[in-house]
Amino acid sequence: MRPLRVLFVEDSAADAELMLRALKAGGFDPVHERVETAAALRAALEGITWDVVLSDYYLPELEAPAALALVRERAPDMPFLVVSGSMGEDTAVAAMKAGATDYIMKDRLQRLAPAVERAIEEAAVRHDRRRLEQQLLASQRLEAVGRLAGGVAHDFNNVLTAVLGSTELLLLDTPPGAAKREELEIIREAATHAQDLIRQLLAFSSRQALKPVVLDVNHLVKNVGKMLRRLIGENIELTTEPAPDVDSVCADPGQLEQVLVNLVVNARDAMPQGGRLTIATSNLAVAAGAVPVPPGRYVVLRVTDTGTGMDAATVERAFEPFFTTKPRGKGSGLGLATVYGIVRQSGGHIEVESMPGAGTTFRIYLPRVEDVAEQGAASTAAAPARGAETVLVVEDDERVRALARKALEQAGYRVLVAAGGKEALAAAEGHDGPIDLLMTDVVMPEMNGRTLTRRLTQRHPDLKVLYMSGYSDEDIAQHGVFETGTAFIKKPFTPSVLTKKLREVLDET
Ligand SMILES: Nc1ncnc2c1ncn2[C@@H]1O[C@H](COP(=O)(O)OP(=O)(O)OP(=O)(O)O)[C@@H](O)[C@H]1O
Ligand SMILES: [Mg+2]
Repeated sequence: MRPLRVLFVEDSAADAELMLRALKAGGFDPVHERVETAAALRAALEGITWDVVLSDYYLPELEAPAALALVRERAPDMPFLVVSGSMGEDTAVAAMKAGATDYIMKDRLQRLAPAVERAIEEAAVRHDRRRLEQQLLASQRLEAVGRLAGGVAHDFNNVLTAVLGSTELLLLDTPPGAAKREELEIIREAATHAQDLIRQLLAFSSRQALKPVVLDVNHLVKNVGKMLRRLIGENIELTTEPAPDVDSVCADPGQLEQVLVNLVVNARDAMPQGGRLTIATSNLAVAAGAVPVPPGRYVVLRVTDTGTGMDAATVERAFEPFFTTKPRGKGSGLGLATVYGIVRQSGGHIEVESMPGAGTTFRIYLPRVEDVAEQGAASTAAAPARGAETVLVVEDDERVRALARKALEQAGYRVLVAAGGKEALAAAEGHDGPIDLLMTDVVMPEMNGRTLTRRLTQRHPDLKVLYMSGYSDEDIAQHGVFETGTAFIKKPFTPSVLTKKLREVLDET
């Protein structure tokens, strides 16, 4: 016997009884409610979700088309069958035109159970399709916002590089206790905060430089487990459900940790009274058309909480940057935007399922990798950041150029600067001694970094190269400049990061 929740719009209790009998004979185990007025119908729709509405055509206070409109308002996919004793062909046609799922004569009730069964199946298909369409629309909208945010963030990056870098240089010249020190520190703090926001925006627009490695998600969950427990406090119980033999994925472990942290912090905020938080992993084979990811094999990372949940309007906007329901100063609304960007950039997909009062589940689909390659190399030991080599800096943004020059000169280097490719070639031409390193922007108007490198190495075969860019590895790959093993520094950088990186590249053999 299949359970079935039936809502009757019917003035005759006896007729409803007959229909129930027909449904039982057809293999259903129905629970039901019967309403006769619009108000009662509205109230019944507020409470539970019904599997099917069975409606008479003419009721003293309500007719089927009006009832149908009320039902459609709240549940566009709910099966609505007109069951009438005296329905002429015209009425039947009118009912179907108004959007009824089917119609049945009361003297042919043996048709009822099969019709209900078919209606429910079709409604499930419609519901899935609608969900997929909505997800697609939402992701297209986010993609557009992401492009916009990415462009803005990229420009701000250069500005901040100059502000932060210059401030650091001034601080170097300003002894502790000196008059302007405090103001400089305030500037540094503010600029660092701005940089942090920009970084999240770049993450959202999938423009970060990721360092993907082949990794075991179970491992990662286990490693951050302790930190996550500290994050959520004592009244929330964290359970991990790692699937045995979970496939490997290719992702940046630091970024994936960030994803987990952001989701877990949100879950914590949604459970101020305490609750349960579950992090689970599983392998999943996706067939064509099932979820909005290409067919293939995935590792699914699921984060479920028993918190407040979200209404439909919040779910719809949750991934938008700066969307937050938290009080001012509490949330920036960038947590889920960051998660979204990281997951997308990792070739994955994220889904959310939530209802007010029913908790929230996030599912992240990451494509699995077939062959397990070596893990990324361990970080290099700290090296002295000074040097006396000659460096040619090519950068079209004047502020970044000036900053790099000052930072390098302070660290002892001999520095040549140029605003573009042609100027760089001329500078190299006019310089007698060796040039040890070329530090160049990747994307420049007149000549890209790679072409410039090729031209310069003809005369300086031992020239080392450090590329700098505000874009991610992926963007750079699209410009055809990035090869594995290429040294690369992401803007904005501080003088200390720059000199350290420079030393690394110069000391490489
Ligand atoms: N697990 C959850 N349960 C209930 N609501 C959630 C959950 N996760 C996110 N939300 C809702 O989505 C909104 C956006 O989340 P997001 O992480 O992007 O920003 P935030 O948490 O408000 O701020 P930030 O993460 O920048 O500190 C939240 O304000 C909240 O309304
Ligand atoms: Mg958050």
